[in-house]
Amino acid sequence: MGGTISVAEPILGDEERQNVEQVLESGQFLQGQFVESFERKWADYVGVDHAVAVSNGTVAIQLTLNALGLEPGDEVIVPSLTFGSTATAVVHQGGVPVFADIDRDTYTLDPEDAERHISDRTRALLPVHLYGHPAEMDELLALAEEYDLAVVEDAAQAHGARYKGTTVGSLGDAACFSFYATKNITTGEGGIVTTDDAEMAERLRLLRSHGMTSRDDHEVLGYNYRMSELNGAIGDVQVERLPEFNARRAEISERLRDELADVGWLRPATIREHVEHAYFWAPFEVQTECIGMSGREVWQALKDDGVETRHRYTKPLYEQQVFQSHDGFNGEFPWSANERDHLYDESLPVVESIAGRVIGLPNHPNLTDDEIERVVEAVRNFADENGGDGNERP
Ligand SMILES: Cc1ncc(COP(=O)(O)O)c(C=O)c1O
Repeated sequence: MGGTISVAEPILGDEERQNVEQVLESGQFLQGQFVESFERKWADYVGVDHAVAVSNGTVAIQLTLNALGLEPGDEVIVPSLTFGSTATAVVHQGGVPVFADIDRDTYTLDPEDAERHISDRTRALLPVHLYGHPAEMDELLALAEEYDLAVVEDAAQAHGARYKGTTVGSLGDAACFSFYATKNITTGEGGIVTTDDAEMAERLRLLRSHGMTSRDDHEVLGYNYRMSELNGAIGDVQVERLPEFNARRAEISERLRDELADVGWLRPATIREHVEHAYFWAPFEVQTECIGMSGREVWQALKDDGVETRHRYTKPLYEQQVFQSHDGFNGEFPWSANERDHLYDESLPVVESIAGRVIGLPNHPNLTDDEIERVVEAVRNFADENGGDGNERP
């Protein structure tokens, strides 16, 4: 037995180090040739005309909504089971996140429930390609067309995923990616917006750098959301390694799905035939009624056995304190101004039934075949050791 098997690892090599070294030697930390080159490569990889690098995935969403002209109090429909910043970024822009239910199988925004939540203040849909599985974009794009809404893809977890043959990030009006350290590729911290819209790209470039058109001119209310050259230097190499990383992630994740197919208490997440999963996670659903344990307890027990897993998201976003207490802009805005407190009284059936059940097994490209075998064994032995009757699927 070795040490603990980690669930995620950034993979950095000599080329990344050389690039970083070059930036350190130059003393040029402001976004420059590496950030620009990274943007060009990312746009080409995704298949769009423009990519605008920023300091993280959260501000990528905020700036995109800003560039789309989101006005204070405008509503944006988001899935209720995702990382918090999908929704807090809407609030940062003065908008109101409206929580919709998810598809039972893919955990992504349910188009029918999204439609139910459309009001005359709705301006955009913000589907998340959760765990690396693309949302049902055809239905969502049709809905957007019918109601004249923008579509922003939250592709933070879906580097290189494909929907009906098209790479995600090129399907909506714009898409936002994160390069946080656990993601399929990393820049340390970082994010990027992709779009085919030249005007939007121009506006994003302005917004990310103080709204300045020249050294002395602040044209619009901007921010300092630039990606530093150090982060760009890493991204410029990582983007080239992404296809190889993703191939290994897929190989490992599919092996886990195959080898654990007959374990009754663990159901592999559905992967629709028309998608290519990015396998940010290798997601499985804990069949609590079968093993007699919660997702949390499974997570803890596997951890004690030296296998780290992911266990998120355990709480629907509408139950989070920040939305329950309407704690945006000192509690004043946009909540009370809009008298929309009822939006957070939701109890959405699919989200409620999934929250806390999904775990992600280790699947990062650094894993050796022996380590993968150890993960398989730990899971296979689990039911016996923990007294579950776990091999009958309900
Ligand atoms: C679905 C989703 N959206 C947005 C973000 C925000 O990205 P960042 O952490 O780079 O701000 C994340 C990050 O983890 C995410 O998983």
